[in-house]
Amino acid sequence: MTQSNTKVRENWGSRIGVILAVAGSAVGLGNFLRFPTQAAVNGGGAFMIPYLLAMILLGIPLAWVEWTLGRYGGQHSHGTGPGVYHRLAKGRPWAKYLGIAAIFAPTVITFYYVYIEGWTLAFSYYSLTGGFKDAIAANEMSSFFSGFIGAESNSYFHNHTPAIVFFLIVFVINYFVMYKGIQGGIEKLTRIGMPILIVCGILLAIRVLTLGTPDPAFPDRNVTNALGFMWNPNWSALSDVKVWLAATGQIFFSLSVGMGCIMAYASYLRKDDDVVLSSLTATTTNQFVEVVLGGSIGIVAAAAFYGVAQAQSIASSGSFSLGFITMPLIFEQIPFGGFFAFVWFLLLFIAGVTSSVSLIQPAITFLKDELDLSQNQAVTIMGIVNFLVTAFLVFTIQWGTLDEMDFWAATVCPVVAATIMVFFFSYVLGIKQGFAEMEHGAAIQVPRIFRFVLKYITPTYLVVLLVIWISTEWWSVVTLEKVADSAARNWIWGARAILAAVAVTIGWIVVHANRAGKFPQITEGKR
Ligand code: ALA
Repeated sequence: MTQSNTKVRENWGSRIGVILAVAGSAVGLGNFLRFPTQAAVNGGGAFMIPYLLAMILLGIPLAWVEWTLGRYGGQHSHGTGPGVYHRLAKGRPWAKYLGIAAIFAPTVITFYYVYIEGWTLAFSYYSLTGGFKDAIAANEMSSFFSGFIGAESNSYFHNHTPAIVFFLIVFVINYFVMYKGIQGGIEKLTRIGMPILIVCGILLAIRVLTLGTPDPAFPDRNVTNALGFMWNPNWSALSDVKVWLAATGQIFFSLSVGMGCIMAYASYLRKDDDVVLSSLTATTTNQFVEVVLGGSIGIVAAAAFYGVAQAQSIASSGSFSLGFITMPLIFEQIPFGGFFAFVWFLLLFIAGVTSSVSLIQPAITFLKDELDLSQNQAVTIMGIVNFLVTAFLVFTIQWGTLDEMDFWAATVCPVVAATIMVFFFSYVLGIKQGFAEMEHGAAIQVPRIFRFVLKYITPTYLVVLLVIWISTEWWSVVTLEKVADSAARNWIWGARAILAAVAVTIGWIVVHANRAGKFPQITEGKR
């Protein structure tokens, strides 16, 4: 039985439009901040081995699966996990609940991602207006950043107002794009944004690679040594399981696979649209931007300016420290530094906004498909929830609430959601039918080896990852063993309560939609 639905589903305007949108979703802050710091602290060139392996065995096949399931779901008026899995499992009652993870992850990431985007916009504004030009030492720039994000009150910032103002601007931009919908909003944004982003990235990479020896007093501190630091392989890193987890996590985060974003986007494809080549093109674009551009800017500049030892400690202090503290200090030391700092933060902002719209989309698609809400209603509801949760984060960030949400939504949940997704593709739909669906309308054929990969390797890889994680970290993370401060513990539990409320609400909507007949019985033999 097919469900009657008189609504006409929106479609992408063009093939290049959807490819740029998916590439825009993938290319984000992760490419320019997370990748270089992860690679530098996890074995340099050697990091690329688990990274490439994860890309071939998880990233590329999962992207194909997600595109395929999304396009399939769209034909049946469902663009998110619950509806898609319900059909794949021919109406078995448990299936729809397994789709919750793939709405939960992107929705929760949205809550803090949009806030961080506000920081990038603010810093591009300060780059032009000289806002941080007096912060010339690392500790001063660090205070400027901490003061701005509200982690401390200091001589630069006494309150949260600037961070809130920039959050509001970015919030309005994001939700304006969402109101405009797939073609009029997201497709337009990424068509304009992606070329600008790539030009900014190339400009900055050229600037960094031509730095030579920035300070002749330190001849060792030069671009060649900096590139060596970033890329010379430290083979011993490969025996450390943490390096493998880091590389796999980076592939997930960077490609935005397994999270439901691609599924929601692909549900607006037409029945005969190619998914195989489009997916591969979007993945390749992301990898070019991440490895070639992301790998040539931040850490390389830091090592060229401050030497390898210092760059190591910058990388270990995390991606925000690199992006918002080290990079502005470097730009202050080069000619036209204000302009290059502006380009850097503009690049981060565009990378951020083209990703955040894709993180918001699954919730919108879910509300529209399963509750029959209009675009405006769905966008308004998601906007209100986003606003309230981000407000909580703005005032509690110093207690680690943002990191807590990031941990559950961006580290744990995508692996769980991807395991569920591949289970449905390879075992519920079945490899044979799954590949027939994938290759329908395809511009190229998928190599046969990927049937084996998707049936055995990808699921095993994911389950092993989960088992390793649960056996090594689970208990200390859940019990907040490493958090001594009692205020921090309370706020982190508050953040967890919000996460639980989000998951329960999604579950409740599934129950409600089920009662309203959105997940009807499906006659055997028909999917
Ligand atoms: N894929 C996005 C990023 O890399 C989420 O930031």
